[in-house]
Amino acid sequence: MVGVLDYGFCFGAYFVGDDVKRVTISRRKVLQVSLSLSGLLLLNSVRKFLGYQEPAAQARQLTLDAPEAYAVGSVTAVPGGHCWVVRDEAGVYAVTAVCTHLGCLVNHEAGEFACPCHGSRFRPDGSVIQGPAVQALPHVAVSRTAEGLLRVDMTQQVPAVERLVVG
Ligand code: FES
Repeated sequence: MVGVLDYGFCFGAYFVGDDVKRVTISRRKVLQVSLSLSGLLLLNSVRKFLGYQEPAAQARQLTLDAPEAYAVGSVTAVPGGHCWVVRDEAGVYAVTAVCTHLGCLVNHEAGEFACPCHGSRFRPDGSVIQGPAVQALPHVAVSRTAEGLLRVDMTQQVPAVERLVVG
């Protein structure tokens, strides 16, 4: 016959026939395991507080609608691309959606980009309105494909003044 009993700091016991076998665990071991678990919980809380997000898989090069499809003044999220396509009077550009503070994805609301993690705000051109972020959202390369579609290349940063001129 096999069974299990509970014993305080004794981890448990089992018996085979009439022999009771104790499985013990020292107080030191219990303390070590408790401290390790507490440490992991604390670390996870700090990670969440800082707003860290696991980098999601994202498309690095995207082919989108023709540049003419973006109206002057529009700000359009690129699905899965972690960037926004913006068209102003000078043309079309793409600005990354990854906040320069700690990497959260910014939202577009009320004519500006707003970070939900710690409140940084950016103008449509990516420049900082309010911290804690101190660096502007980087611009990435845009071009027109042979088929006349908009191509966004997240692997290439470009100066914030660069535009794809739309005729
Ligand atoms: S990640 Fe902190 S303000 Fe954006």
